[in-house]
Amino acid sequence: MSESQPLRIVHHEGTVTRDERRSALRQTGGTLWFTGLSGSGKSTLAAALEQALVRLGHAAYRLDGDNIRFGLNAGSKILAETRGYSEESARRFGLGFAAIDREENVRRIGEVAKLFADAGVFALTSFISPYRKDRDAARKIHTGNASGALPFIEVFVNTPIETCEQRDPKGLYKQARAAIASGKGMGFTGLDDPYEPPTAPELTFDASTRSVEDGVAMILGYLRAKGMIG
Ligand code: ADX
Repeated sequence: MSESQPLRIVHHEGTVTRDERRSALRQTGGTLWFTGLSGSGKSTLAAALEQALVRLGHAAYRLDGDNIRFGLNAGSKILAETRGYSEESARRFGLGFAAIDREENVRRIGEVAKLFADAGVFALTSFISPYRKDRDAARKIHTGNASGALPFIEVFVNTPIETCEQRDPKGLYKQARAAIASGKGMGFTGLDDPYEPPTAPELTFDASTRSVEDGVAMILGYLRAKGMIG
């Protein structure tokens, strides 16, 4: 099969301005990027915030690691078994948990979140997103946007690993500990795979010492103080 010639692709601008979108929705929109270990409470906090924002009449939408990995960022097995991908395509496009897969996972989510933010919606992303450079890249495509900066708020869900492991909602820490003990390992974040904490997150939340309601109030307070919601 011959490779087709790459076409020159150019941006096609619409006519709706960002200000028009913002005043129609009565909010700036933006991305709230939750990062932290598995079991740290990212998804719980993001879901509670989504609920609070929608109740207040705001447009907010959650993008969650465990859900997105069934669809947009599905693994090769899902693509082969449920989407009819050939073995080669499934291997090529499916994402797992190797460093390069996590990087691509976070890159795609960063792009999708940026689209939501540009549309004036609040995108609430909850992914481990373990590498600083990948989170920084997601930030950069928001704040360095050609048509002006889009808000990007990094929320570090800084729950101690002992608490995450004790909770172990999906039994994965237990599984990873067993894999490590058997000498194989599992590449599980925080145990035998790295997590690089943010150095300058806009907000930090520790689920072992604070309630979810507290976390939601903190984030809403931040959004109000920044004039992002009324
Ligand atoms: S990320 O590292 O690429 O950002 P993501 O947030 O999408 O990860 O997915 C993490 C979820 O996948 C975890 O909450 C856990 O349920 C599951 N998971 C499965 N294998 C691993 C692994 N090796 N390391 C971390 N999480 C894993």
